Amino acid sequence: MAVHIDRCYCFGTTFAELKDVVASTDAVTVEELQDYAVFGHNCKLCHPYVRRMLRTEQVVFHEIVTAEDEPE
Ligand code: FES
Repeated sequence: MAVHIDRCYCFGTTFAELKDVVASTDAVTVEELQDYAVFGHNCKLCHPYVRRMLRTEQVVFHEIVTAEDEPE
């Protein structure tokens, strides 16, 4: 099964949208991004992906990324 993860699935906010927020604000952490966009308040499985997006600008993932892979 192909893995294709591109958003916070609980809130429907895409990582591409969050990357745009990064470009237009001073947000550099998950918590700071949450001041500007609604995501990540439920299961929090998207947090490691958002941290990787912040680090690498990648917005579509074809692998599982866990908190162990992208610690806070
Ligand atoms: S996928 Fe983002 S809070 Fe659940």
